[in-house]
Amino acid sequence: MTSRAFHGIQDSMQETRKRDHIELTNKAQTGRPEVDSRFYYEPMQSAHPNSQTDISTTFLGKKISAPFWISSMTGGVGEARHINQNLARVCREFSLGMGLGSCRTLLDGDQYFADFNLRPILGPDLPLFANLGIAQVEKLVHSNNANKIFDMVNRLDADGLIVHVNPLQEWFQPEGDKFEFSPIVTIAKLCNANANRQYKIIVKEVGQGMGPKSLKALLELPIDAIELASFGGTNFSKLELLRSQGTSVVEIEALSRVGHTSIEMISMLNNLLKANPKYMEKQIIISGGIENFLDGFYLQELLSFSSIIGQAKNFLNRAENYSDLIKFTEAQIEGLKMARAFLTVKPRPNSSATPEVQ
Ligand SMILES: Cc1cc2nc3c(=O)[nH]c(=O)nc-3n(C[C@H](O)[C@H](O)[C@H](O)COP(=O)(O)O)c2cc1C
Repeated sequence: MTSRAFHGIQDSMQETRKRDHIELTNKAQTGRPEVDSRFYYEPMQSAHPNSQTDISTTFLGKKISAPFWISSMTGGVGEARHINQNLARVCREFSLGMGLGSCRTLLDGDQYFADFNLRPILGPDLPLFANLGIAQVEKLVHSNNANKIFDMVNRLDADGLIVHVNPLQEWFQPEGDKFEFSPIVTIAKLCNANANRQYKIIVKEVGQGMGPKSLKALLELPIDAIELASFGGTNFSKLELLRSQGTSVVEIEALSRVGHTSIEMISMLNNLLKANPKYMEKQIIISGGIENFLDGFYLQELLSFSSIIGQAKNFLNRAENYSDLIKFTEAQIEGLKMARAFLTVKPRPNSSATPEVQ
């Protein structure tokens, strides 16, 4: 090789290296730290949590080992039994509570009873709630058949009923039900049928949340808890929209974007409580777009009511594989203990910006 050729190869290697440096510089960034600015981090103030650290709480009269809740998810078809049973197993393992998905099929018979029959797995001491849509509740209570609802709750040995109120979802659903009465009238009638408060009643949305008038009306009724199911996570209007793409419902798609985030609803609830401290007897399930224990910790610290943290999608995504479910649940519990030990929530500017409700 001539010396000219040798130098030629050296030059081209150097060039390649330079080009690599230029190209890889962008890939080699460590990234700016993404500070979660919701919290003060206080490393001086606590020892590490350990197995004795107690984050247990009471939800509607039953003790749970940590303030976590598996939010209602539909059951009744094939896969659902396995999923429901895994969810109940993890509740039993960590002493948590859960809501069943819509138990509508059980109103007509026991064909799917085994899919929903989770009390034997959960044991007697943990909270378990049946679930119905307001459309079914409306049909039954306005025809004086509320006993059919309570009979179903009894068969499941559940602590009570969660009623989901979902006018937008029903509207978007091609085969959806239309309400003849406003939901608050139907729920008031359900409460009348449960005058001795034998069954606990929880009311929720399904991913849109609700505004201050609805919250106030619910707080005035003899129900036991409200689940926020707020905007920001799984959204059933959007889900129904996806199912019905191509039909005229797309023209009213803008309606799927209305609603209230958890933080907005918490501000509304705090304002309502300030005006009427007797609302304090209700409990709140904070849910809808809770990504992890840290979101839950943040929102629980801001809310003045007694509360627990509900998640649906995150549990569902792991529900088929029990060891994934265990890992996720354990991480939520251990993460919350760490958050309580080392974090405090920064005061929010303008936190009472929600309108007063008359
Ligand atoms: C697959 C699935 C099925 C659901 N079925 C019901 C139901 O039957 N009844 C109900 O009240 N909510 C139902 N929900 C709504 C959840 O309980 C919850 O309010 C909502 O998904 C928001 O929580 P997330 O953002 O953690 O998913 C369902 C959610 C999912 C993901």
